[in-house]
Amino acid sequence: MTNQIIINTDVEKSKISRHIYGHFAEHLGRGIYEGIWVGEDSPIPNTNGIRNDVLKALKQIKVPVLRWPGGCFADEYHWKDGVGPRENRKRMINTHWGGVVENNHFGTHEFMMLCEMLGCEPYICGNVGSGTVQEMSEWVEYMTFDGESPMANWRKENGREQPWKLKYFGVGNESWGCGGNMRPEYYADLYRRYQTFVRNYGDNRIYKIAGGAGVVDDYNWTEVVMKNAHWLMDGLSLHYYTIPGDFLLGKGSSTEFTDDEWTITMKKALYMDELIKKHGTIMDKYDPEKRIGLIIDEWGTWFDPEPGTNPGFLYQQNTIRDALVAAIHFNIFHNHADRVHMANIAQTINVLQAMILTEGEKMLLTPTYHVFDMFKVNQDAVALAVDNNFEEYQSKNEHLPKISISASKDGHNKVHINLACLDHLEGTEFSIELRGMNLDRATINGTILTADEKNAHNTFEHPDYVKPAIFDNYTIKNGKLSVKLPPMSVAVISVDEGEK
Ligand code: AHR
Repeated sequence: MTNQIIINTDVEKSKISRHIYGHFAEHLGRGIYEGIWVGEDSPIPNTNGIRNDVLKALKQIKVPVLRWPGGCFADEYHWKDGVGPRENRKRMINTHWGGVVENNHFGTHEFMMLCEMLGCEPYICGNVGSGTVQEMSEWVEYMTFDGESPMANWRKENGREQPWKLKYFGVGNESWGCGGNMRPEYYADLYRRYQTFVRNYGDNRIYKIAGGAGVVDDYNWTEVVMKNAHWLMDGLSLHYYTIPGDFLLGKGSSTEFTDDEWTITMKKALYMDELIKKHGTIMDKYDPEKRIGLIIDEWGTWFDPEPGTNPGFLYQQNTIRDALVAAIHFNIFHNHADRVHMANIAQTINVLQAMILTEGEKMLLTPTYHVFDMFKVNQDAVALAVDNNFEEYQSKNEHLPKISISASKDGHNKVHINLACLDHLEGTEFSIELRGMNLDRATINGTILTADEKNAHNTFEHPDYVKPAIFDNYTIKNGKLSVKLPPMSVAVISVDEGEK
């Protein structure tokens, strides 16, 4: 029998770290400047320079961790240029991203303040590509040393008496590419050297993240770096972008795309599963206990920039297709929660697969934002075992799964079923058996995000064109849930049996 899903609510797998719902905000285009930072004197309502509308929207989705300052920018960022009185801060050229002037007004203090306002963990990426060991070491001292030290004293002079708590620290970014074009052997040695001087001061404990493979399925990178440095790291990163076209020849438009491009986008999003399995297998060799987290600190769609915008700013629209890509990724991450300890979408605002788009004082929430909002119930819940036997979704030569699914149980024993119908033309009907639960006495709630056109998106004129709605297209038959999902939809069904 096809189209049957069985969820074993008593077979608990790993905890889904809330950090899987993490973010990445780089000094790139209008991601930081305008998107987050407008400065205290801006007519845009702000708190200490951070815009209020964005802050409120990000609090709603419970951002657990924020990666900064890059990306490629991290390997040319010199943190000392970004502290002290703003009017004296050094101006630099952001050579990677549009060649614009970076005035360094958003630096360490502003980033840490943002994290405090959001109630999230900071995740800082240090500069290996063009920075020194001393510079990296002093940055950690500046942020975390409690007491008398040259860097701690400087921090205090700059207005911050207490050290900050800093857990997550990345040693370089994409060192195989924009971070220095290194070979894995060379990076492994540099990692060993740099991380030595990333110190734990007082009771601050740093979770050190080594730079992993990216863009291509470079399993050799993972093998060499793990072999030579696994005992010195807590996490290993992985970058993978969903690009329907070709990275150099044309990635495809974010809003004008064919049926085939829809399907290929789904297929490429699903590829994340294979990447985690294969990199995970190599990691298992050196770390069978799964102590080291796979930190997928850049993921999401990457399309051609919006026509008429600076191509170096990577600004793109966001449609229901992006929502499907986000849901597919979360389901994959949940199902690999034993190894995937963190993931950071690229990027939070105005860049690539953004949650939020701004135009001056205007702001809109994208379909991707709504998936983060709907799926946040899974943060720190326990993944459940799911079996399914499902019809395929065929389009031209592609045979893809018709749905993507994961399930979790939260601290109140509520079960969350996370669904996505990948087919953009036809919906689907199926049954869900929740073994270990009695549906007759349960309270069930559902939310759905869907659209009538495959390129449906929100604009500043129509910011609520794509938004979640109540989902109740299900019945209980013979103790099972019988569900009808429309095409191109994302749904979360929550089942609460109350206290047992
Ligand atoms: O997110 C945009 C860029 O993609 C990042 O700066 C880099 O790390 C990756 O190649």
